[in-house]
Amino acid sequence: MCGIVGYLGKKNTKEILLEGLKELEYRGYDSAGIAILQENGFNSFKAVGKLVNLEEKTKDFITDTFAAGIGHTRWATHGKPTELNAHPHLGQSSYVVHNGIIENYAKLKKELMREGVVFLSQTDTEVIVHQFEKNLKSSSDAFEAFAKTVKELEGAFAILLVTKDEKNTIFFAKQGSPMLVGINSENEKYFASSDTPLIGHCTEVNYFEDGEYGYVTSDEIVIVDKIGNNRQPVFSKLSQNKLSAQKDGYRFFMEKEIYEQSTVIADTLMGRLGSEEVLFDELDAELFHGINEIKLCACGTSYHSALSATYLFERYSKIKTSVEIASEFRYRNPIMSKDTLFIVISQSGETADTLETLKMAKEAGLKTLVICNVDNSSMVRLADASILTRAGIEKGVASTKAFATQIAVFWMLSLYVAKLRNSLDANEIAKQITLLREVPASLKVTDSMHEKIKRLSKRYLHGHGFFFIGRDIFFPLALEGALKLKEISYLHAEGYPSGEMKHGPIALADPELFTIALLPQHMLYEKSKSNVEELSARDSTICAISPIEFDKADDFIQISTYSDYMLEFFEMMIVLQLLSLEISVRLGNDVDMPRNLAKSVTVE
Ligand code: AGP
Repeated sequence: MCGIVGYLGKKNTKEILLEGLKELEYRGYDSAGIAILQENGFNSFKAVGKLVNLEEKTKDFITDTFAAGIGHTRWATHGKPTELNAHPHLGQSSYVVHNGIIENYAKLKKELMREGVVFLSQTDTEVIVHQFEKNLKSSSDAFEAFAKTVKELEGAFAILLVTKDEKNTIFFAKQGSPMLVGINSENEKYFASSDTPLIGHCTEVNYFEDGEYGYVTSDEIVIVDKIGNNRQPVFSKLSQNKLSAQKDGYRFFMEKEIYEQSTVIADTLMGRLGSEEVLFDELDAELFHGINEIKLCACGTSYHSALSATYLFERYSKIKTSVEIASEFRYRNPIMSKDTLFIVISQSGETADTLETLKMAKEAGLKTLVICNVDNSSMVRLADASILTRAGIEKGVASTKAFATQIAVFWMLSLYVAKLRNSLDANEIAKQITLLREVPASLKVTDSMHEKIKRLSKRYLHGHGFFFIGRDIFFPLALEGALKLKEISYLHAEGYPSGEMKHGPIALADPELFTIALLPQHMLYEKSKSNVEELSARDSTICAISPIEFDKADDFIQISTYSDYMLEFFEMMIVLQLLSLEISVRLGNDVDMPRNLAKSVTVE
């Protein structure tokens, strides 16, 4: 999740921009940059890595006159974290910073290159500044050119642009990625992609709506709304609490990350869903040539998404698929064959056990792929190919949006491989793609759902343990639900295949044994239902999660009715995440930083 700042005024623009970027560090980034336009022209600086590197580069640069400045922290989605790919991006006379994904960048870039434009970076963002300067040639002024450019962009974007062709002005546009502008009594204008950089500088802020664009000068804020009408800014008081602002007002980063899954997943899908095929710019079909088997390897939550993927690959790609726990795999002298594609999954890209198995696979001559959330991580640098999940930084130690985006990537990848292997016809792939487009909606947290879970969580604070049970792909989801609860409530929980209960575990059934039962309508419902009835008949306390009313449950959490089990999977995942959160809150635990845990286990 990139960060954007902007400033128009006569204070120390460099310092204001750098301070603003520091306030956005919590969102995670791998490079940063600023561009400042003063009377005598532009100064721009970029650096890979932490902001101290950018500060070092700018230490001798002073801004003490009126300026228009923009800054950016980048979380790589298109193009490696390098200085050339860092924002701001330069045209002939303009700079731009951008948060989001320009879905039609390839088409725009191709046309611009055909017209002789030279691109310096691999990013989608760079097309914005070149398209603007192309439009400048046929527009009466910079704002007309900017308006034309904004209308030509598809995808999600929050943009700030400064140009020599209109000094003392900052142009902005907002579509799908957050952006706000703040004012104060000194006629200064502050921009940011979230509140925190404005705290202490502004008293009032205007949050832009999707489809809005415009510009600011010292004297005015011009906003054009999505139907082309000018509107006046609507200012609201700015919260002065930085930590609360970083959590966007949620109680915990984990809660914020559960809620933002529906928007984050849209980034994960962005640019990858054609009408009849899945598109991965970052993959070459050659990776799959000669491959007859897939082996997945990971730890923890990433292992659960890998286990989920086995169902998708065998069901849709019709390819033999197996999954390994990395800490086991690395010490059992495994047999590896070169017709196996070795896929490692890791949010951080640094987990020691998983990284070692990647090295083993490479040493054995296997082709390797990593599904990861952090570009330039050790695994991304080592694997033959990588797919970024685009979840943005995940602050909560208990993984939520990283898991959701991994599942979405695997669902898409299973369809990508299905097309390569002709294992699904075009209509079926198109149907699956239509379902994928519904995932953001299935991840929306409703107040009624959250309130219900908050209320019933009070009943699950004790007992001698929890079973989370599910069948098929809902078994790894049950494992994930159990892990979430263990991690942040410290209560004992086990994930189990529903069909396994009668092979021993049911001996534990009594009113103090809590069973969280996943009962999807579109995956083995009747089988799962009878497994739960066996438990209920032995007086186990049951919390059923299903779109279908289930009268044998002590608690029942109803999810929406969908046309496919995968959409049920995502909404049930939300329920499990919220359930573990609310139980943990009631127990007074540190939800974001649970005891004994680290966000990335970089040691054995
Ligand atoms: C999940 O909530 C935990 N934080 C943990 O199991 C984590 O998934 C595991 O350590 C793997 O981390 P990775 O995805 O960064 O490799």
